Amino acid sequence: MDNDVLRQAALFGALDDDAASALAESLSEVKIRRGDVLFHEGDSGDELFIVLDGKVKLGRTSVDGRENLLAILGPGQMFGELSLFDPGPRSATVTAITDCTFASLSHDELLKWLEARPVVASGLLAQLAGRLRKANDVVSDLVFADVPGRVAKALLDLADRFGRTADDGVHVHHDLTQEELAQLVGASRETVNKALADFASRGWVRLEPRSVVILDIERLARRAR
Ligand code: CMP
Repeated sequence: MDNDVLRQAALFGALDDDAASALAESLSEVKIRRGDVLFHEGDSGDELFIVLDGKVKLGRTSVDGRENLLAILGPGQMFGELSLFDPGPRSATVTAITDCTFASLSHDELLKWLEARPVVASGLLAQLAGRLRKANDVVSDLVFADVPGRVAKALLDLADRFGRTADDGVHVHHDLTQEELAQLVGASRETVNKALADFASRGWVRLEPRSVVILDIERLARRAR
């Protein structure tokens, strides 16, 4: 298992090396292929997962079949703990957008760690608080920001986690289709395509299949405000 990636996970945040190795031993490795579903919204579940390699999308489907993406998660990020702290079914469907490897930890095992090591709980609380903060931003943006503003913000967020700086700009290999990008910002594919084409014509980004190169990060950030 990739210990460097595990160490980035909120659960491991404040553990010393010995405790981190002991926690790593409680984990099992799970692999799925691109397009596979790890679990569905509404399933019951008793494990949390840390992404070791790859990217997943967390999605919800409306009664009329429309899809909304809550988040895209990559290496070091964790999910699947809500159904433990707020007992109930899984709150989202998790689908691999690339081949993925996860570390899984049963909720029972997590509870043992939380009781024995309060620092594990503080790592988890920090992650939950960060997620709530982000969810609040998303709600405000849905009310106050226009679609191009939301697209700009989504690109910057993806760049923050998946970007690689090169001479010509920040290369963001997000692995999302334009449809998925639209589901992430809560707008139609046509409106999102228009915003992307506008950014490209202004020279702020270069569009490539399933990736984008951010050429002018400052202007894009200004548009996201
Ligand atoms: P759970 O409900 O067990 O399964 C789906 C998981 O998706 C959930 O736990 C959280 O870990 C994760 N999740 C739900 N909503 C969000 C969100 N807005 N941002 C990031 N992760 C989320």
